[in-house]
Amino acid sequence: MDLAPGYFRHLRIERLQRRSAGQPGVLTLSGGLPAPETFPVRSLGRSLTGLGRDALQYDWPEGRSGLREWVARHLRQRDVKVEHDEVLITSGAQQALDIALQVSTEPGSSIGVPEACYPLALALFRARGMSPESKLVDEATEYTMPAVENPTGCALDPAERVRLLARQRLILEDDAYGDLRFGRQHPPLHASAPDRVFLIGTFSKTLCPGLRVGWLVAPPRFRELARRAKQLSDLQANTFAQGIVERYLAAEDFEERLVWLRTFYERRATALVDALRKRVPYLRFREPEGGFSLWASLEESGEDTELLATALRHGVSLDPGSDFRSTPGSRGLCFRLTFSSLPPRQMDEAVKRLARALAEHRKSARERASAKAPVSP
Ligand SMILES: Cc1ncc(COP(=O)(O)O)c(C=O)c1O
Repeated sequence: MDLAPGYFRHLRIERLQRRSAGQPGVLTLSGGLPAPETFPVRSLGRSLTGLGRDALQYDWPEGRSGLREWVARHLRQRDVKVEHDEVLITSGAQQALDIALQVSTEPGSSIGVPEACYPLALALFRARGMSPESKLVDEATEYTMPAVENPTGCALDPAERVRLLARQRLILEDDAYGDLRFGRQHPPLHASAPDRVFLIGTFSKTLCPGLRVGWLVAPPRFRELARRAKQLSDLQANTFAQGIVERYLAAEDFEERLVWLRTFYERRATALVDALRKRVPYLRFREPEGGFSLWASLEESGEDTELLATALRHGVSLDPGSDFRSTPGSRGLCFRLTFSSLPPRQMDEAVKRLARALAEHRKSARERASAKAPVSP
């Protein structure tokens, strides 16, 4: 496995982020993590105590049948026509994506990705020898997050949805945030093209990521290959975690939880948007429609790693945009801002610090530009 060219820049970013993580006083607008206070610790604990020995035993690669039935029922509510035996339980959405990739694409080929893309999908594609492209490539499989994109927090543009379906190519549909749209729910693309769409989902965003439970619904001709790839990778998803989730779902009203979670995250998104409009009116972004983050850009170009270092000096973190790009661009300076991690009462202070960091960054960008400008004779 080769380390992709952008990897060393990523390591620099990671080093800065690790240093700042948990540093008292740094307010976090980075990371894209679910809020830990939403994890249902007590109910999960209750689910754990009733588990039988089967939850400690090996199992078939496709996963526990009760859990597969729950996932199929849940997806049918969003117009996906799926039966429980079509669901493969995975170790999170990340593994589902990896399996879908392994069974449907060839190393050396291109894969279509959004202009701003979930970084660990980009990194995975590169690690598997593929070339992610945000420009249209004729024969390429497409990776997309139609319900809610990471990092933008927005749905795929309706015209783009139509174009994707019309192209008749294979689609890897990452629905990791599908249950966390604040407004109207969209049926996944899978509902319109089940023979071409791999549908990927997870409990990481709506329950907790630590249990590592997700799912994959593969088109029929890839289903057995996917099951085999899962088996060869790790035999089965963690039976213990599957058992906990299965019992939790049987005991709790998950739909009610989803309504509560959407309101919880929408309040945080609104707090961030309001603070940005008030304190950094020149920042460009679209209002998020779900998920955990938004995508912001400045007209000025510059080094986004430097911007992160400046932000950390001012006591706030963000995610530099280069990690989200398939190709380094000169389209101004972009970055992801996470709203999921901070309570609304801290958002204004975080954005105040961000505004100071951006002002400092823009000032030094202007100074650098004028130092480079030719001196008139
Ligand atoms: C768009 C997207 N897909 C997949 C994943 C991976 O999720 P999981 O924890 O279920 O592996 C993430 C995690 O951040 C994500 O943002």
